[in-house]
Amino acid sequence: MGTEYPVELRDVRKSFGSNDVIKGISFRCKEAETTVIIGGSGAGKTTLLRMIVGLERPTSGHILIDGEDIAPLTRERDLNRVRQKLGMVYQYAALLDSLTVMENVAFPLIEHTKLTTKEIEEKVVDKLRVLGLDTSVLKKFPAELSGGMRKRVGLARALMLEPKIIVYDEPNSGLDPISSRVVDDLIDETRERFRVTSVVISHDIASIFRIAHQAILVIHGKVVAAGTPDELAYGDNEISRDFIDKSGVDGKRARSVSHD
Ligand SMILES: Nc1ncnc2c1ncn2[C@@H]1O[C@H](COP(=O)(O)OP(=O)(O)OP(=O)(O)O)[C@@H](O)[C@H]1O
Ligand SMILES: [Mg+2]
Repeated sequence: MGTEYPVELRDVRKSFGSNDVIKGISFRCKEAETTVIIGGSGAGKTTLLRMIVGLERPTSGHILIDGEDIAPLTRERDLNRVRQKLGMVYQYAALLDSLTVMENVAFPLIEHTKLTTKEIEEKVVDKLRVLGLDTSVLKKFPAELSGGMRKRVGLARALMLEPKIIVYDEPNSGLDPISSRVVDDLIDETRERFRVTSVVISHDIASIFRIAHQAILVIHGKVVAAGTPDELAYGDNEISRDFIDKSGVDGKRARSVSHD
């Protein structure tokens, strides 16, 4: 079981009709580390994540999850088996508005396990507590929560099946700087506590300095730079240096703030 690199992409391409969105992307993510993908709007980042979790098929190339190439899989049953190894935290939390917090977080367990209602409720309460939410939120509906709380509920739901891999689509979007840092800490604590391999898409350059072991810059469907955040920010790749420089974030400062 387990490989050193639970996620690996080899020359992955994806086109929608004549629109070539992903143009040959390769990278791999080390176990229990965090890879952050940055890039401009429309660069194909969400598409990339959707392929990693098996919601979208690449046009060509290989996507190895835990050493298994999922690109050729077409049967729903095979894809479901793979999807259970992965948790996804969506760009806009994507909670079901008509369900309570309890029902939202319990959803994967109801779908994929044979646990009793009581067992499920215990697990939900437990996971929410780990993420800093108490039982007062259980009966609330998503609309009654703050953005930061919704993100945590989304994360709790992604964690329910205890996946070894979690992908996050812009977990910081729409959050103020403080909440954004709280979410970064959650991602890192989750990684550490559950030894989760994390793939995070982010527009928040400060956050790569806080959570990324590896940062990948994707522009127009191609990887233009990959390395540690410091390598991207201060190395000899002019494009990545420029990209990070334009964000106005000082990496050394962003990192030191996280250790307050
Ligand atoms: N299901 C689809 N059908 C057709 N085109 C799609 C589909 N999904 C994505 N695209 C196209 O792929 C391109 C990349 O979209 P994607 O959502 O992956 O970008 P992104 O990098 O996540 O952008 P953002 O930063 O705005 O979230 C866009 O041109 C989009 O229109
Ligand atoms: Mg996106």
